[in-house]
Amino acid sequence: MGFKKVPVNRTMVEIHRRASDVMNNVVRSWDNVMGAVGLGGRRADYDDLHYEFVGGAKDELRMKHYDKSLRLLWKAEQHAPWSSFRDCSKLEKNLADQAEKALNKEESLARQRLTTQDFRALLDREYTLREKQAMVAILSAIGHGEAYAWLVSSDVLRHVKSSGAKASVTMQVLEEAKHFVVMRELVHAFGVPVPPFTGWEYILLEQILRARWLEKFFGMNIVVEGIALSIFGMIADFPGMEVLRLFHLDESRHTALPVNYFAEFPMTRWEKINPLSRFNRIRYVLPAVPLVFALEDDLAELGIDAFAFGGSILRKILHLSERAGFLLPLPGEWYIETLNAVFNGYCYATRPNHAWQRFQDADTTVGADVRKVEEAIFA
Ligand SMILES: [Fe+2]
Ligand SMILES: [Fe+2]
Repeated sequence: MGFKKVPVNRTMVEIHRRASDVMNNVVRSWDNVMGAVGLGGRRADYDDLHYEFVGGAKDELRMKHYDKSLRLLWKAEQHAPWSSFRDCSKLEKNLADQAEKALNKEESLARQRLTTQDFRALLDREYTLREKQAMVAILSAIGHGEAYAWLVSSDVLRHVKSSGAKASVTMQVLEEAKHFVVMRELVHAFGVPVPPFTGWEYILLEQILRARWLEKFFGMNIVVEGIALSIFGMIADFPGMEVLRLFHLDESRHTALPVNYFAEFPMTRWEKINPLSRFNRIRYVLPAVPLVFALEDDLAELGIDAFAFGGSILRKILHLSERAGFLLPLPGEWYIETLNAVFNGYCYATRPNHAWQRFQDADTTVGADVRKVEEAIFA
């Protein structure tokens, strides 16, 4: 291009360049010293010398999570047509219209029914008032959890190393935001009052939000996501709940994030065995136990045994936790057997003709699609 050059004073240009170099050395040296003595230092974990976040590119992590999330990105307008969401692009809408034309008459009618106010009518038809209350109690428990997942993942984003991991956690933040807003509409569609947190859930989520980042990773991606995954797997086959299969798919990716992250940036031996961290991990899981008892009545209303649900969740959480390298104070088997004894003791006391069961062997996940997703994680 024939740019018309603007004249500059070369001496002054050189002076500015040197001043900038000196200042660069001063601020970096100052921050290096302050960082080394633990008085602060550079805030951003960003490495401008290499044009990467500290930790490098880690493209494989990015491909496993960020790229995969984008590939599997779902729009509420398309998958929850009964909701108020209008998040499809023109192209996606055109594709949906084309797909609509390919449906047979019956399928098309079923879809149209869901695109109108009739979604509420479908819920009215399929669920009694008590069943709707039970669904709302369980779904809102997850819905409140989604709010915390959104907050916690945005905190974790600040701490994970490498551009790949930050891109991966960014997708989790986006997905949790979507889960929260879509879930809220789904819960409201039942048209019954939405209960607040139970005290157990309050403790569970608050202490994870207050935890140090590595423990947040355990508390959220292993414990809370493990519970969410189990609940979505349990009810995604219920009438009108098809959209939960997509939540289930997202959460399965989130539970895999710690394992994939530690493959790139392993925890130090001290981080794994630190007695205080191990004690804290069990402290984060513990409120989930009384939560199972608190949900017993609502789960029973939907034909689900709370203790089969509790046993299968504990098995899944321990599996994820061991695989990621998050050690607990005692071996996982001890918790499984102890909790099973507690559940059986309670059932002997409250259920006529109860016979000893291994609740940890139960699997409350229903439906071929969701089972396949879980097999990939828990195999
Ligand atoms: Fe979520
Ligand atoms: Fe999640």
